[in-house]
Amino acid sequence: MVNGLSKICVVLIGDIVDLAEKEVLFTIESLNIEYKYLGRTGLLLFLETEEMLAEYLCYRCSMVREVTKIILESDFLNLYKNFNLNLFNIEKTKSICVRIKSYEHKYKPEVQKLERIIGEFFYKAGYKINLENPEIIIRGYIISEKIFLGILLAKSYRKSYEERRPSKRKVFHPSSMIPKFARLFVNLSKVEINEFLLDPFCGVGGFLIEASFFVKHCIGIDIDIRMLKGAKENLKFYNIYNVDLINASALKLPLRKIKYIATDTPYGIASSTKGIRHSELVKGFLNELSNYKGILACILTTESNLNQNFKIILKYPQKVRSSLIRWIYILSNYG
Ligand SMILES: C[S@@+](CC[C@H](N)C(=O)[O-])C[C@H]1O[C@@H](n2cnc3c(N)ncnc32)[C@H](O)[C@@H]1O
Repeated sequence: MVNGLSKICVVLIGDIVDLAEKEVLFTIESLNIEYKYLGRTGLLLFLETEEMLAEYLCYRCSMVREVTKIILESDFLNLYKNFNLNLFNIEKTKSICVRIKSYEHKYKPEVQKLERIIGEFFYKAGYKINLENPEIIIRGYIISEKIFLGILLAKSYRKSYEERRPSKRKVFHPSSMIPKFARLFVNLSKVEINEFLLDPFCGVGGFLIEASFFVKHCIGIDIDIRMLKGAKENLKFYNIYNVDLINASALKLPLRKIKYIATDTPYGIASSTKGIRHSELVKGFLNELSNYKGILACILTTESNLNQNFKIILKYPQKVRSSLIRWIYILSNYG
């Protein structure tokens, strides 16, 4: 292990697990923090990196459930042979509790017994057990015949996404995306915290709201003034003041410099393209964007063939309805 780095397990949320993994890696890269990719098994992503990142990943990444520092890894059947309490290095004054999750159906009935036995090891060594409000949670994951045991470092607060659902905002619009996806797509743009993020098709502000919590400054552009009024009210509703809104067309961007973009282009009946065909709109937008250098953009479109002056870093399909696929692109024209 590289000096000062720990092995951590990031537990991902299952909706689109490949993108959830990318969200975590891109976020760490956007912070310029060192990490080593150790692999992913199911929803468990293993990295070697700084422990202090755990809180931040839970705060920023919408597809992260929790982060645990891994202390011990063992074949499930050999756990007791390999278990060594001293490895955990926990102060004797701390109260603990053991919580294990099995991703293997066949081991689910064993979980409670295992929690009790490991808890007893700690109890016999002089630790206080507190099942309601422990100071330290010993966390375990059983997967692929293995068990990973460690100390829970941080948990994400899932309720906050619920609180910002489109239906709970001041101004509702059916084209607006649910917060956990809006935030995922913002993070896929690799936006750095001290930069600004542009959403050139911002609608009532779904992406802007999410980005505003960790990006220094955001700019939203929309051709429809009513949508911008909706965005303004929504931002005010959540006390967000680091976002500027501009009434303009994404086909003629009124900005001198752009670096990071996250946007959901209009398609379907819920959002208007103002009479232009979706494919023409996206083509025109990318054409306009190619006037700027050093762009990193996460763009959602139903176009399956973006053949422009951009390097495609990622192209990922997402089913919207049985007959409609939306493509998630990460594009760049760096260097
Ligand atoms: C899918 S909605 C954006 C939803 C937003 N991402 C959210 O989550 O709240 C697309 C928006 O693009 C806007 N739009 C359509 N044509 C445009 C253009 N040429 N330039 C800028 N905005 C445009 C529409 O008015 C609509 O508000």
